[in-house]
Amino acid sequence: MLAPTFLAAHAARVEAALAAMLDAKASVVTARLLASMRYSLLAGGKRIRPALLLECYTACGGQSASGKHTPAMQTFVIPTPVMQAALAIECIHTYSLIHDDLPCMDNDDLRRGNPTCHKQFDEATAVLAADALQTLSFELLSESNAGAELRCTLIHKLALAAGGQGMVGGQVLDMQAESGSENMDMLTVERIHLHKTGALLRWCCEAGALLANADAEQFEACSRYGKAVGLLFQIADDILDVTASSSELGKSAGKDAEQNKATYVSVLGLQRARELAGDMQELAVAACQPLGRDGDHLQSLVHYIQERSW
Ligand code: IPE
Ligand code: IPE
Ligand code: MG
Ligand code: MG
Ligand code: MG
Repeated sequence: MLAPTFLAAHAARVEAALAAMLDAKASVVTARLLASMRYSLLAGGKRIRPALLLECYTACGGQSASGKHTPAMQTFVIPTPVMQAALAIECIHTYSLIHDDLPCMDNDDLRRGNPTCHKQFDEATAVLAADALQTLSFELLSESNAGAELRCTLIHKLALAAGGQGMVGGQVLDMQAESGSENMDMLTVERIHLHKTGALLRWCCEAGALLANADAEQFEACSRYGKAVGLLFQIADDILDVTASSSELGKSAGKDAEQNKATYVSVLGLQRARELAGDMQELAVAACQPLGRDGDHLQSLVHYIQERSW
């Protein structure tokens, strides 16, 4: 399925702002470290997380998500709080990918169509590039022009979503499940996926709502939408691992079976995994109904996330 045009527009703005933000670090971050951070952060990627954040923001009545930032400028002007949050989530997501690809984890050579960070540089540099991207994410949120209380809430929620009770916790469960995935049940896989992938996607949706000063009903809609979309995203990733080629994905296909990973496909088979993705799609679409027509782009994103080819 073709990506909705607004996704490409968001991606272009986010890429330009990420590049400007890194350029502004040239005088303060060691050249090799900055090169490795830039290598992974600007290697492309669908930029789904920023799109979810920006679209939840708009759906909840937020204005001028793109901000005043001009890509041609060499100095980094802090963009609008919502764009700053979009940059922050791409930094933390890219950190998670660099670590996920390390030999001690999924041991992958290909990411976003290029050699993985540890292949292009070395393992120590990759670990440190990811570490720096993680803290950069919190730096960006803390220096944003949002009010102090909101900044604190976003930082706190991101710490929970990314850390031991979120993404990192899920990655541990994912690694532990490798050895015993033949005894895996659906609830355990759901738990892994909601943590390793879902928590960060849900943060995007909740952060977009909070930045737009959403009311309780709008926030709840975005939160429920984020949970369903987070799970759907990883089910689709599991399906693509067995149905798409490495050149389509820009990362190694067929790795999950090779590494005996606990996935929806390994537990349910391809057909039932597809049916479950359909159920999750319905849940996500239903979740954004309270947002009315303002949630139309969120619905398009659900369809894209399920039917994407990479
Ligand atoms: C890959 O995420 C890791 C998962 C959580 C499945 P994406 O598929 O969003 O990767 P990029 O950002 O487009 O490269
Ligand atoms: C990774 O899940 C989730 C992360 C926290 C990065 P996968 O291991 O399935 O992601 P890919 O397939 O390598 O992108
Ligand atoms: Mg993994
Ligand atoms: Mg992986
Ligand atoms: Mg995968």
